[in-house]
Amino acid sequence: MNRKQAAAIADRWMFPAEGKSYMGGLADRPVLAGSKGATVTDTEGREYLDFQSGQMGAALGHQHPRMVKAITDCMKSMLHATNVMLNVPRLRLHERLGGMLPKPLTRSLFLVSGSDSIEAAVDLARKATGGTDVVGLHAGLHGSTSYLTRSLSFNWQRRKHALVAPATQALLAPYCYRCPLGLEPRTCGTQCLDVSLELADANFQGRPAAFIGEPILSAGGVIVPPEGYYQRVKGELEKRGMLMILDESQTGLGKTGRMFGFQHDKGLKPDIITISKHFGGGLPISAVCTTDAIAAKAVANGYFATRSHAADPLLCAAGEESLKIVAEEDMAGRAARIEARIKTGFRALAQEIEQIGDIRGRGVLLGIELVKDRTSKEPANAETRTIEARCLEKGLIFQTRGVGSLTNVIRLVPPMTTTDAEVDRAMDILKDAIRHAFKLAGARKKPKRKVKAA
Ligand SMILES: Cc1ncc(COP(=O)(O)O)c(C=O)c1O
Repeated sequence: MNRKQAAAIADRWMFPAEGKSYMGGLADRPVLAGSKGATVTDTEGREYLDFQSGQMGAALGHQHPRMVKAITDCMKSMLHATNVMLNVPRLRLHERLGGMLPKPLTRSLFLVSGSDSIEAAVDLARKATGGTDVVGLHAGLHGSTSYLTRSLSFNWQRRKHALVAPATQALLAPYCYRCPLGLEPRTCGTQCLDVSLELADANFQGRPAAFIGEPILSAGGVIVPPEGYYQRVKGELEKRGMLMILDESQTGLGKTGRMFGFQHDKGLKPDIITISKHFGGGLPISAVCTTDAIAAKAVANGYFATRSHAADPLLCAAGEESLKIVAEEDMAGRAARIEARIKTGFRALAQEIEQIGDIRGRGVLLGIELVKDRTSKEPANAETRTIEARCLEKGLIFQTRGVGSLTNVIRLVPPMTTTDAEVDRAMDILKDAIRHAFKLAGARKKPKRKVKAA
């Protein structure tokens, strides 16, 4: 199918999307036909390095052979099962995940999407505390269900959905590169948190229940909170009887160079974590994980969460295999090595390119913030979009991100199985595109690349 045919189908049959919105203009992009490892192929035979790992669900690499085998094997015995009877793959997954979780997190329940797990985690915190109000960071994103998770996705235009959930409000995110209070991280005393909590305390509609955050704020522009930030948040939550939910959708299961993103914060003990994305190795399954005590309290208040497909043997078998791969193939170690290679490349490039404002992130969740110049830090939004388009043309896929309406962060999320040669190829494409967008010497004249026969 060529792009013209795809566009005709989309035009006639697909639900429409606003031209420049997140889901807009899909028919102008490659139509995908295949994927393997760190590469996806379109219907016209062009290959792309996929440095966004699909929609982050392919962090183990597309079509990981062990995933394909585990899924195929399970399909032959049992695809779907009722959630009111136990099944073997489900039990195995509970046991394996429980064994991998940092104590005192031991209990898990399974759902389908990341958004599901956030809804269930918030409800769990409410049932366990008896509170209602939930706070999240203003640069955070926690899902796309129209009511609760979009209401907590402050970085993602809450106004686009018809109604916002009550008892949800934002705290200022600790975005130190562009401190919302204009302070310096070394001397600020984390005033963003103090100010936000003072406001939150004034705004709470009832008893507060929980805080939700990402160990690295991915969609908000790959913001890494400063050292000790989440420890301070935890202390404040304890004073208020609130629970800490950490959304590990994008940071869990090896991606930051540790098993879970929160483990970079020494001694931090979140009350609830959620995992999704590559948890299913490409299939949709998510989990909410918590302690014995919190689970027991919530259940005593009537808590439960499930979906028709939440206990499907197929998804649970995929979950178990992905956890085994993460551990046995040292995905965290691989992610750390990819981080080192990409950061070294960008640090060298930053010596000559003034517009590289900040290089941040961990493992295979990295952000390069581009600016017009390092003094004004004026966001280079248009140039970053030009870079994205040129990279796509030359065979590299990634997304641009930023706080609110900013789009000046190149977000790189390569699969953890990406080879050194693939990283180097991506870096070459990126360097050329950055030089080209800022009209610097060294950009190639015409982006040419091989097109394989379809
Ligand atoms: C941090 C985070 N949490 C939750 C979600 C929602 O996951 P899903 O799209 O599977 O519902 C996303 C989606 O991108 C995410 O990035």
